[in-house]
Amino acid sequence: MVPPTSICNEDMIHFSSMNVDDSISFQYKQIYIDMISAPVSNKTHLGEFLPLMGTDHIEFYVGNAKQAAFFYEKTFGFKIIAYAGPETGQRSKVSYVLEQGKIRLVLTASLNPNTEIARHVHKHGDGVKVLALTVEDAKDAYFQTISRGAESVFAPMTISDEYGDITMAAIQTYGETIHTFVERHDYTGVFMPGYVPRTSGAFEGDAGLLYIDHCVGNVGLGEMDDWVNFYREVMGFKLLVTFDDKDISTEYTALMSKVVSNGNGYIKFPINEPADGLKKSQIEEYLDFYRGAGVQHIAVATNDIIFTVSELRKRGVEFLHVPETYYDDLVERVGDIREDLDQIKALNILVDRDEEGYLLQIFTKPVEDRPTLFFEIIQRRGAQSFGKGNFKALFEALEREQELRGNL
Ligand code: FE2
Repeated sequence: MVPPTSICNEDMIHFSSMNVDDSISFQYKQIYIDMISAPVSNKTHLGEFLPLMGTDHIEFYVGNAKQAAFFYEKTFGFKIIAYAGPETGQRSKVSYVLEQGKIRLVLTASLNPNTEIARHVHKHGDGVKVLALTVEDAKDAYFQTISRGAESVFAPMTISDEYGDITMAAIQTYGETIHTFVERHDYTGVFMPGYVPRTSGAFEGDAGLLYIDHCVGNVGLGEMDDWVNFYREVMGFKLLVTFDDKDISTEYTALMSKVVSNGNGYIKFPINEPADGLKKSQIEEYLDFYRGAGVQHIAVATNDIIFTVSELRKRGVEFLHVPETYYDDLVERVGDIREDLDQIKALNILVDRDEEGYLLQIFTKPVEDRPTLFFEIIQRRGAQSFGKGNFKALFEALEREQELRGNL
């Protein structure tokens, strides 16, 4: 984290999901504010300096947004709802917006080789660029975090069309990932100014996915505590739980993880770093292929994991496989559960219990060509933890995949 020395310029706005480099029909205004005199309000919400209302959207930079949109619609049951591209006056990129439950994904691809998006995809492959957070006051969120040491990506700006206006600002987090603060006022358009409604004929119904449960970041060796401190000091998060290499290790590999959460618990960010092991850890494999820190997995919640996983499997989503022996002592380990054990076993769903209840979870294989980003499907029945009892089975499953790729 570097202290802000100057406000961002327009070049930096490439990072956002906005379209300022294009001649587009909506109006926008960039609010340049002198950092020295910028007011940092004392506004707090339940004692927080950065009240967050949830995940507004997750934006991916991809090589081919049209095909990625088709994939997420067909396989995961997200519905295409909005589009921005040349037809809407945006010359250098296209974006598709997909929705399921409260989850919004934005898939953005470059239309020429000279953009920040093209460079990002060249380096990282398809991956998450923006973890956008919904706030009541984007300007305040920006200055609260900047004044605490966040690095600016772009200063607050308001964009508007006939449906209202949206104010946004963004700060840097691990790797080349950014957090955008999105203040929607009472915006009534399909997504944001610049986007038009769009549907496709491919939608076959949702798969019961409801909201983002947590988003996990992988960072380099020795960097986990720096980023945990960033979330604590700059964004006011709390350290929820720590897993060390004794909790998360197999015969061969290990990792460490700390989970930070905002005040209301809507936003949970586990941060992983590799730990010493006999062989290369899954985190190192990720860092090698992503070429640095980035989002490792997005956990999406369902209220009916049997339905969701049945649907996803039917539609072609590939999951990590845990061996049958995992289920041998399941009942002794987690006690009674409401779900049918035969179905749980047939779908290869994992179960874990903590003091508050239990959870069911399953992990997809990477959804990109590189062994980088994957998804977790999670159903919580009281448990607020992260499936510690499943770590060993999960990481052994990951290692089997790593070995197939020649990366263990
Ligand atoms: Fe997870």
